[in-house]
Amino acid sequence: MPDIDIIGIKGKTALVSGSTRGVGFAVAALLARAGARVVLNYHNDSARADVALYHLKEAGAEAIAVRADVSREEDALRLVQEAVTAFGPIDILVNNAHGRIIREKFGQTDWATHQSHIDGIVKGAYHLSCLVLEGMKERGWGRIVNIGNNMLTQPITGYSGLTAAMGALFGLTRNLAAEVGPYGVTVNIVSPGFVMTEEAPHTNEAVLAAIKAATPLGRLAAPDDIAGAVLFFCSDLGRFVTGANLSVDGGKIMG
Ligand SMILES: NC(=O)c1ccc[n+]([C@@H]2O[C@H](COP(=O)([O-])OP(=O)(O)OC[C@H]3O[C@@H](n4cnc5c(N)ncnc54)[C@H](OP(=O)(O)O)[C@@H]3O)[C@@H](O)[C@H]2O)c1
Repeated sequence: MPDIDIIGIKGKTALVSGSTRGVGFAVAALLARAGARVVLNYHNDSARADVALYHLKEAGAEAIAVRADVSREEDALRLVQEAVTAFGPIDILVNNAHGRIIREKFGQTDWATHQSHIDGIVKGAYHLSCLVLEGMKERGWGRIVNIGNNMLTQPITGYSGLTAAMGALFGLTRNLAAEVGPYGVTVNIVSPGFVMTEEAPHTNEAVLAAIKAATPLGRLAAPDDIAGAVLFFCSDLGRFVTGANLSVDGGKIMG
């Protein structure tokens, strides 16, 4: 007999930071399709958030959208409070928001730029994880998925701030995975390569062609390609995997 809830997401509450477009929205939409109640989050663009929320609700999802800069502790707290008020305790947290990414040669950049990457990527994940973990531990079930970047394995020059922040995110993920594993909570990383989001048209054609040529699966990633991997970690199917990093880049980086 078919088991339509084989992945065990139905009825869970999921919070995805930075989820009104790009990878975050694809993740939120897939979690909603799998039956989760979804909390969208954004920083500035409320018109875009309205559109994202409309699409989820049109598809029958239970969802809300909350404006909050997750790198600010007070915003993160309000986000979690609004989520819990709407849908109850958070079972699944996807740390996807990344703040502003700046490409500058090392030496031309400064510490403030590096710090802004760390704040945008690690601080939000830290605040939100702190806020949801106690409840997850008490209930004996929880999923945290952090969105990384395959640049940590294969650096691209000019992105030392982003890559340093990714290194910190990897460290946080693994340490937390060891600490909360005994409570039934898993913490993993999904690391995309280049993804065809709305920003992609700003990328040089030759660069896109080179990425495609170096990708065994022979095409560029769409946000939905990343979402499937995130869903695996959030689901019961991924229940015995923690502290892992999964590259989702069509095989561009192996190992
Ligand atoms: N795109 C790629 O090629 C690529 C490659 C590797 C890894 N990744 C990773 O994938 C994740 C998503 O990237 P993306 O390109 O899909 O992002 P994106 O299209 O730039 O979307 C960013 C989302 O995050 C929100 N946001 C930004 N700063 C925030 C903050 N401080 N607090 C709360 N929300 C915030 C934005 O809201 P507003 O619109 O309101 O500002 C928007 O909803 C990131 O972690 C990134 O490092 C992306």
